[in-house]
Amino acid sequence: MANISVSNINKVFENNFQALYDVTFNSNENEFIVIVGPSGCGKSTLLRVIAGLEQTTSGQILVNDVDVTSFQPKKRDISMVFQNYALYPHMTVFDNIAFPLKLHKIPKKEIKIKVEKVAEMLDLKELLKRKPGTLSGGQCQRVAIGRAIIREPQIFLFDEPLSNLDADLREYTRVELKKLHNELKTVFLYVTHDQIEALTMGDRIIVMKSGKVQQFDTPENIYNKPNNVFVAKFIGSPKMNFVSKEFAEKLSGSVIAHQNVKVGVRPEHINIDNSTSKDCTGIVSSIELLGKDILVAIDYGGKDMLIVSKPSCVVEKINVGDSVLCSVCVECLHVFDKKTSQRLN
Ligand SMILES: Nc1ncnc2c1ncn2[C@@H]1O[C@H](COP(=O)(O)OP(=O)(O)OP(=O)(O)O)[C@@H](O)[C@H]1O
Ligand SMILES: [Mg+2]
Repeated sequence: MANISVSNINKVFENNFQALYDVTFNSNENEFIVIVGPSGCGKSTLLRVIAGLEQTTSGQILVNDVDVTSFQPKKRDISMVFQNYALYPHMTVFDNIAFPLKLHKIPKKEIKIKVEKVAEMLDLKELLKRKPGTLSGGQCQRVAIGRAIIREPQIFLFDEPLSNLDADLREYTRVELKKLHNELKTVFLYVTHDQIEALTMGDRIIVMKSGKVQQFDTPENIYNKPNNVFVAKFIGSPKMNFVSKEFAEKLSGSVIAHQNVKVGVRPEHINIDNSTSKDCTGIVSSIELLGKDILVAIDYGGKDMLIVSKPSCVVEKINVGDSVLCSVCVECLHVFDKKTSQRLN
């Protein structure tokens, strides 16, 4: 059983740049937490601070209720898998995986047993004598994971471990990592900037922007109840539409009680029909087939624009230039304060 608690972490670099602001979160036992956010928002810095590779400027990190904030990295019982794998090129796969145990002066016999067990688990048995230069990206990645799990740490940190893999291998490895998490029964903190990965892998997701946590919640809540405009725009593909209060009222046929708002509507929640809405006729300006879905762009005289996503099979023949009526049920509107960008409904 493992857990991590991070409170009010601030990180100011020597050049006075502040990369983390009051980052706070508590894991549940053995939770898979995904950290997601745009490039430069502080994801790697947060992992490096947790691993002890960077000092915190202030704040506290507890692992299984022990305060490790001032501990050396190797005393923290935390392992990290880096984006570029950071394997030692002159060592064999066996020695790369064994390295953390050698560092801890574990007897040779015991090392051999453990490396073989990990190699079995990650399907690396045939590769133990090879050197990293002769391996594929996916194989290197498994070696890096092997090196991280061999010490059986309490917490695993993954910094975009799949970003060098092609789409097929990514999907396969995602599933493998979820399995590994179930087997190891530890906390995984997993950084990605791929929102699909975040939604599919995380028990909970931390969305970050400019060094600040925007929302820490389940994938369902992040998607269905985004805390603010940033989260609403960042998570979801195709992106949420943003429209004026007046237009949202027309689309939904209802009155929005709040003033000075921005209203969001997910593309899949818009119906193309001729029911509730009035004055909501738009012109189809483009149609894009994405396989199982199609994206329809609907133009309202250049003032408003909607992107609608529908399963290809349910959309009647729609052509560019057609006039269509759109509607949205009122429950599907996301209402945000125009000034603060915070969610209101
Ligand atoms: N040693 C450092 N000194 C000063 N600024 C730094 C240092 N390391 C990182 N930064 C800055 O801190 C911010 C966060 O960087 P970080 O690497 O954590 O981002 P990230 O979210 O991991 O981005 P990416 O998705 O591109 O990997 C960036 O603006 C970066 O330039
Ligand atoms: Mg990074």
